[in-house]
Amino acid sequence: MSTLEPSGFALGAAAASAAADASDVAAAPATAAPDPAPAVDAHGLAFTYDGSSFVLQGIDLRIERGEFVAILGGNGSGKSTLAKHMNALLTPDEGRMDVLGRDTRDPQATYLIRSQAGMVFQNPDDQLVASLVENDVAFGPENLGVPAPELRERVDESLEAVGLPGFQKRETASLSGGQKQRVATAGMLAMRPEIVILDEATSMLDPQGRASFMELCRSMHAAGKTVVMITHFMEEASQADRVVVLDGGRVACEGAPDEVLSQADLLEHLNLDVPFSCALSLALRAAGVDAGVHVRPYELKEELCRLHSKA
Ligand SMILES: Nc1ncnc2c1ncn2[C@@H]1O[C@H](COP(=O)(O)OP(=O)(O)OP(=O)(O)O)[C@@H](O)[C@H]1O
Ligand SMILES: [Mg+2]
Repeated sequence: MSTLEPSGFALGAAAASAAADASDVAAAPATAAPDPAPAVDAHGLAFTYDGSSFVLQGIDLRIERGEFVAILGGNGSGKSTLAKHMNALLTPDEGRMDVLGRDTRDPQATYLIRSQAGMVFQNPDDQLVASLVENDVAFGPENLGVPAPELRERVDESLEAVGLPGFQKRETASLSGGQKQRVATAGMLAMRPEIVILDEATSMLDPQGRASFMELCRSMHAAGKTVVMITHFMEEASQADRVVVLDGGRVACEGAPDEVLSQADLLEHLNLDVPFSCALSLALRAAGVDAGVHVRPYELKEELCRLHSKA
């Protein structure tokens, strides 16, 4: 049976409970947080998986609505764990995490947070739930109660947005890693969340796929969505409004991409790449060229053209 038929597919226990929670949300506008609440607000957030070693150690992080934030950090620094706190999949052992003004530990807020903070997981196999692509993409919005004609529209639109038009009837199990990652992204887009959390969502994409994905992120950001992008690609991070670097479960530094990504020594110390244009800028300066330090390739290119035309 297709999810997209008016009858929809049978709701599993989790979906049924989410649907039940939906009525709580609909019934509770009076308790909704006022608009100025930030998208994400963590205070002293500490978390342990095993009850003894803390993998997040007192994170203070505020992300405003409409901001585009990149989160960087070496393997095991806590990025995915922090991301899972942003849609209440995990909740703090110490401190507090509010999403859109709601405490993630409040069970009454779970449905609202999960429906408004859409996440693409690091491993798409952890995310895909249906055997047919269209059912998979429809899963989230269907559980939000989106009616069938709109569901079809959202599925088609989301698959188009991730560069997989015509993949509706394909089996998810037969897709490549990059295609699965795109389907997972389409499923998140189809929910039309206010906050978009992307945990290395481009790690399996080819360069053209990554470029289109960044274009998609920019257009979501331009449309007012909050974008939180975890990435190991410095060129992606350089396009954010703000970069936050984690190390050992703590915020090691944060700031504008130009401030953070131009600190080559710090990045190397944290096991991160130095952006190519920054490394080239520094090499040119070391060779006596009077160039600034740029973290975005097109800015370095423009300066080099200016310097060349003056020579
Ligand atoms: N389900 C889990 N159970 C126990 N420990 C976990 C679990 N998931 C992660 N950890 C541990 O928590 C720490 C942080 O892991 P996390 O996955 O958040 O790191 P990350 O920054 O996302 O790393 P990567 O760049 O490899 O994706 C690591 O030490 C990891 O071993
Ligand atoms: Mg991770």
